[in-house]
Amino acid sequence: MQYNEFYQKSLDNPELFWKEQANLISWFKTAETILSKDKNDYPQWYADGELNACYLALDKHIEDGFGEQIAIIYDSPVTQTVKKYTYNEVKTQVAKLAGGLLSLGIKKGETAVIYMPMIPQAAFAMLACARIGVTHSVVFGGFAPHELAIRIDDCKPRIILTASSGIEVDRLIAYKPLVDEAIELANHKPKKVVVFNRKLGARVPFKKYDVDYDALVYGSEETDCVSVESTHPLYVLYTSGTTGKPKGIVRDTGGYATALKFSMQYVYGVKPDDIFWAASDVGWVVGHSYIVYGPLINRNTTIIFEGKPIKTPDASTFWRVIAEHKVNVMFTAPTAIRAIKKEDPDGLFIKEYDLSSLKTQFLAGERCDVATLEWYNQHIPVPAIDHWWQTESGWPMIANMMGVEFLPIKPGSAGKAVSGYDIRILNDNGEEVGANEEGFVVIKLPLPPGTMLDLWNDSERFKIGYLSKFPGYYFSGDGGFKDAEDYIFITGRVDDVINVAGHRLSTAEMEEIVASHPAVAECAVIGVNDELRGQIPLAMVVMKTGNETEHFQLEYEIVHLIRDQIGAVACLRNVMIVQRLPKTRSGKILRKLLRNIVDKIEFQIPSTIDDELIIDEIIEVIEKYAVSKQK
Ligand code: COA
Ligand code: AMP
Repeated sequence: MQYNEFYQKSLDNPELFWKEQANLISWFKTAETILSKDKNDYPQWYADGELNACYLALDKHIEDGFGEQIAIIYDSPVTQTVKKYTYNEVKTQVAKLAGGLLSLGIKKGETAVIYMPMIPQAAFAMLACARIGVTHSVVFGGFAPHELAIRIDDCKPRIILTASSGIEVDRLIAYKPLVDEAIELANHKPKKVVVFNRKLGARVPFKKYDVDYDALVYGSEETDCVSVESTHPLYVLYTSGTTGKPKGIVRDTGGYATALKFSMQYVYGVKPDDIFWAASDVGWVVGHSYIVYGPLINRNTTIIFEGKPIKTPDASTFWRVIAEHKVNVMFTAPTAIRAIKKEDPDGLFIKEYDLSSLKTQFLAGERCDVATLEWYNQHIPVPAIDHWWQTESGWPMIANMMGVEFLPIKPGSAGKAVSGYDIRILNDNGEEVGANEEGFVVIKLPLPPGTMLDLWNDSERFKIGYLSKFPGYYFSGDGGFKDAEDYIFITGRVDDVINVAGHRLSTAEMEEIVASHPAVAECAVIGVNDELRGQIPLAMVVMKTGNETEHFQLEYEIVHLIRDQIGAVACLRNVMIVQRLPKTRSGKILRKLLRNIVDKIEFQIPSTIDDELIIDEIIEVIEKYAVSKQK
């Protein structure tokens, strides 16, 4: 099949195209209405259809005779465990847990928060919620109680599901005290906390609201899948925006299930039965779409990997997992490959493993730099495919559609628009720019099925943030350009969102926290280039007059403030003290200018700057700081 023809079909007649795709999954009630508009005049898919995502992921395959196929492989180098679960076994676990949740009083339409490490129970919890029409919100285990509390207050869960602990390389992280602290901080109080005790020795303080996971599953009957409307929110997943408040991306059920099935086949080129491994975390959208729902709906074997590309125990882990489980298609972030490359530059570990099962390596989460791509290709002879998407889209928007036609790879480009996405590059005035000209990456409405439905409890922010800047288009927040052959190059965010080791974080949120330090008069947090993590945050602070806190003390306190409030994953490790921050005459901090100075990128001094002299001051501070860090 030719990409051009297939892609064009999806734009010429989206209703027909996506009706055919919807027919490839099972519905309890087939949708008559394929594309319609919601109360906000925003496109929605299959509005009168009914289905259940857990049914598609488990029961359907069992009914079709595939119950004994392995659904999940749990591979945990940090606990030295490998455990395999068939579709039958997963269904029993999930259906009993779902029954247990119902017995705790939760009902269809309510929400549950899941705060768990990378263990099968995290997937069971998600699927159990989906089974009974409960909207889940998974919170990444690396987030601190303060972040968890913000999410609890926003989505008001009746139940939280957690585990006793996670493991970070060789460090046990006790989750239960973090959950208790979050509940303490939150205004909304969940009724029950279901705790899966891993019995690894972590402290598990008992509270009145606690329910033991194992006892709940053991003592409960299996429950069936309920039928939900296509637009029923399967989950809310919080992501960073340009303010201190995370945004709850709402995902529908029918459009998402259709899109995931479509993407497994046409983007990832994966057939049912294949072994698919997304080395991410269930706390991110990659985990939702391509560890849990996508591969299971497509009847693949999915891998839940509890480890890191390095240090668990070394840079050979990825290759060991591929060889041991005969992985066919893998997905990771370029930062993971950079981490491996740093530890094993000559790829010596790679030679020790039989990687012949691997057909394709997908990379996303941040731009794939050419050096990483070249290193990968030098050592592993399979296509390494960069592809671009976001929490908001839920599935790839730009890729080399491996199940359609393998197009030549252009290093630095994420490929071409995926079916259903009419991607345009606009200038500030909303006009399309020419080939190779940089602008805002937008998508002409309607978006295809499976993309965000709304923001949880905040339709206004949804409209302002995504739809108002360029009427008729979805604004992605990224900049980029298209070349003459329609390959798209993403150049980075045009807002204050940064990507640290594939983790999306808000510098605005960090600024709020840094500014809360009593010694700080004002501050700017910017994302600067980092060889390993892509970007890392850097705080520049102006101290209050008369405050005499030493630099190293202030840096220590601010670093810990961020670790306590957001989590270690934010990786804010550098704090510089400056006398003043560069601003426009109207008082806006010139963050882009600061970024360019730190990254040593050629810059022009904006004509609106308040005082040019400040630039020399900043350069001097940066140089001194770099020297002090080397010592
Ligand atoms: N729970 C608790 N703490 C966590 C955590 C979790 N789930 N995840 C990360 N952290 C902590 C780490 O322990 C570390 O703490 P430290 O500063 O005390 O050492 C900090 O957050 C930073 O973590 P990380 O970025 O993972 O650093 P690292 O040095 O351990 O590993 C990489 C670096 C590049 C190997 C790692 O970030 C990685 O694998 N990134 C790929 C991410 C990815 O796949 N993203 C999915 C998008 S597709
Ligand atoms: P998240 O919502 O956490 O998946 O982060 C989405 C953001 O990550 C996008 O808006 C991009 O800025 C960035 N991103 C993801 N994949 C890519 C890619 N392949 N190339 C460039 N940037 C990417």
